[in-house]
Amino acid sequence: MTEERVPVRRVVYPGSFDPVTNGHLDIIVRAARLHDEVFVVVGANLAKEGLFSVDERLAMLREVTRGQPNVRVDKFRGLLVEFCQTHHISAIVKGLRAVSDFEYEMEMAQMNYRLAEIETLFMTANPLYSFLRSSLVKEIARYGGDVSSLVPAPVFAQLQKRLGAY
Ligand code: PNS
Repeated sequence: MTEERVPVRRVVYPGSFDPVTNGHLDIIVRAARLHDEVFVVVGANLAKEGLFSVDERLAMLREVTRGQPNVRVDKFRGLLVEFCQTHHISAIVKGLRAVSDFEYEMEMAQMNYRLAEIETLFMTANPLYSFLRSSLVKEIARYGGDVSSLVPAPVFAQLQKRLGAY
């Protein structure tokens, strides 16, 4: 372990955010209460097969976090730990919805620590949103189900435009 450590004041909350859901937003707001600065970052590596482009995801994230002065929205390519090192971020925030999330998240957390001694802080999902993930929202919207209570209003508007969601 290195002696010089950056205190956990600035954290990163990474994801695909295709699109951002109310569950993501809940974690963002709660993380922003606990830290000086929260970087919400879209993994641009994974963007090819998404419903929304990286720029569209960023625009939606910026709009829904406008009321959070200590939240910054950005994208990253390559390894998340490299983004953390470049921006002097010492910890990653992740939301855990259920035990099923844990194995995968644990693996990534341990690997990120192994790679660059970047810590991972897990926040439990609000039970209201523990069933919620972007892929389900898209599937429901595609088949005409009501997703208006699952995503922030500006995201719902974009889903309506893209998929005819209602
Ligand atoms: O919303 P997602 O799809 O669960 O987000 C996954 C993401 C972007 C957080 C993860 O795939 C990631 O960190 N990718 C960047 C590449 C990287 O650092 N991989 C090594 C992880 S140990």
